Amino acid sequence: EKAGFEHFMMKEIHEQPKAVADTLNSVIRDGKLDLSEIGLEEEVIRSISQIYIVACGSAYHVGMAAQYVIEDLAGLPVRVELASEFRYRKPLLDPNGLAVIISQSGETADSLAALRECREKGIRTLAIVNVVGSSIAREADNVFYTLAGPEISVATTKAYSTQLIAAYVLALQFAKVRGEITVEQCDSYIKELQTIPDKIQKIIEDKERIQWFAAKQANAKDVFFIGRGIDYAISLEGSLKMKEISYIHSEAYAAGELKHGTISLIEDGTLVIGVLTQPELYEKTVSNMVECKSRGAYLMGLTTFGNYNIEDTADFTVYIPKTDPHFATSLAVIPLQLLGYYVSVNKGLDVDKPRNLAKSVTVE
Ligand code: M6R
Repeated sequence: EKAGFEHFMMKEIHEQPKAVADTLNSVIRDGKLDLSEIGLEEEVIRSISQIYIVACGSAYHVGMAAQYVIEDLAGLPVRVELASEFRYRKPLLDPNGLAVIISQSGETADSLAALRECREKGIRTLAIVNVVGSSIAREADNVFYTLAGPEISVATTKAYSTQLIAAYVLALQFAKVRGEITVEQCDSYIKELQTIPDKIQKIIEDKERIQWFAAKQANAKDVFFIGRGIDYAISLEGSLKMKEISYIHSEAYAAGELKHGTISLIEDGTLVIGVLTQPELYEKTVSNMVECKSRGAYLMGLTTFGNYNIEDTADFTVYIPKTDPHFATSLAVIPLQLLGYYVSVNKGLDVDKPRNLAKSVTVE
């Protein structure tokens, strides 16, 4: 069942190249985007004034990354909300808005309630869902199925990675239909997306380096993940992976927020992981890492090959292959999944079934 792996989580980490490729290929014909099966008409896409992304947990983190990509490529305002907040705050929704509900299981109670709230208010709904025929898939106006296959481990990996692909594809489709990018630009983004599975594979092949680092960090009490922009979205997911399966307290911070309070928690040896995949924000985050280091932090840097001067600052560095910065989340998350996994294994914990958690949260 676990195909020779010790845990479902590791099996599912290894299934990511295929899950990502399958999801991408399901919406590409002859090198071009073809979303006809999803059925969001071009006329609707042109009329959208605002996107509301609503989700929980890791699916919410996909929404955070998607916000940057959709706003930047398609020029459409995006709000990302936690379903448990959205459903109770009597949201004021633009009638030309599109609600995008993201859920692996399609059964998360708060996400389902948020979807119903949007439908009651007459807002068009699109679900990004993995489980075919699930409640959210059945009730949404349109469905973009991710093709991750069954995910058993409570900590999501491959479903998260396929949700990112769905979000990028939507961003490109919206951008193309609304005339924000040319057909040629769209094709070249698609070409780049098609390289992502191999790049994920390469990162996974290097897993021993993360395993070694995880063994050294297994006794950490607190871990801080910092980044800006898309790197902040990646940090949120890295931090959740760490806390849910390794039971180490971790927090993700927008790097610029550190000095508004959190930096007082940095002590001698505190692990701070800086995520630096966005060229425009690189220097800013490096300077935040330097600030942490001068207060005693032990620094891990997660950045793209070529940014070798990070080694002047970080004590340990993990490099990911180059890609278009919009898509960097798909690569940078892999070492963070592996880190959470190996710390958990090192501590002898139940990786696939962490305490107090269920795979699908059907109660509010
Ligand atoms: O099934 P869903 O995608 O709606 O689940 C949402 C969250 O419960 C889920 O992502 C959770 O945060 C995972 N355990 C994270 O690994």
